[in-house]
Amino acid sequence: MENSDAELKQKIISLRKRRNAIILAHNYQLGEVQDVADFVGDSLELSQKAAKTDADVIVFCGVHFMAETASILCPDKVVLLPDIHAGCPMADMITAEGLRERKRGLPGAIVVCYINSSAEVKAESDVCCTSANAVKVIESLDTEAILFVPDQYLGHYISTETDKRISLWPGFCPTHIRIQPQYIAKLKQEYPQAKVVVHPECRPEVIALADEVLSTGGLCRYANRSEVKEIIVGTEIGIIHRLRKENRDKKFIPASEQAICPRMKLITLESVLWSLQEMSPEVKVPEETRLKAKAAVDKMLETGRS
Ligand code: 13P
Ligand code: SF4
Repeated sequence: MENSDAELKQKIISLRKRRNAIILAHNYQLGEVQDVADFVGDSLELSQKAAKTDADVIVFCGVHFMAETASILCPDKVVLLPDIHAGCPMADMITAEGLRERKRGLPGAIVVCYINSSAEVKAESDVCCTSANAVKVIESLDTEAILFVPDQYLGHYISTETDKRISLWPGFCPTHIRIQPQYIAKLKQEYPQAKVVVHPECRPEVIALADEVLSTGGLCRYANRSEVKEIIVGTEIGIIHRLRKENRDKKFIPASEQAICPRMKLITLESVLWSLQEMSPEVKVPEETRLKAKAAVDKMLETGRS
């Protein structure tokens, strides 16, 4: 028999309690998944939340690298990713072997790895960053030469904010590159009062048109500011659910209706319930890789505290 969303939510809530589980959801998740979560946030906030929780089980409503990061930080907890096919295509644009090869050509460079990467790639890196702390992490390093992987556009954006010498990896987010500068230019004419906020995974031509370049968490905080009334949103459109929920009297205009991350949308209320019932699919990083990757993630989290 089919369950309504309300019934599914009720079942998830009671099973979450029985399993002593916490449900973490990324800002791009489907609205109904965000609504059943204990916490909704950006990659940095989610990894900080995972590191601190005393739950036995973490249900990660996001993509594979996010669940892996939770497993890296919490090896004694069961980390569930309700749909194992929810991977990040950008994270798949680099392998540990490819990175090792590139490093050989850049002796002395520090490898800064965007959190949107596999545990194996993190294990080959010196420090991680997210879109929320990338500039701060890079500025904290005492080396001038940096290899930034895998997002060329985030790497390019960072290079405009720092004097460090940054070599790039040619990865990109297939969702954010759908946002074109001409869409923003047109919307700016239509909504002259609106602020333009874009994610740093967007192309430089898009970033050039923005009032603010922010992580998804940064965008949510910016939208809460009382003087901000209208925003042209240059990121994945799942975030608009949260923006409207938290700011009922404000206007949020998607820069592109095409900016949808299909992998994020694989997680549904049904798959969350199923995952809690079956305690599967579990994401677990092998210990040797975990320890190396954890050093890079810890270094990032320490930078955030300083
Ligand atoms: P945030 O860390 O800004 O939430 O970004 C995650 C992501 O996957 C963006 O595409
Ligand atoms: Fe990866 Fe882009 Fe989806 Fe973020 S929006 S998870 S970077 S494909």
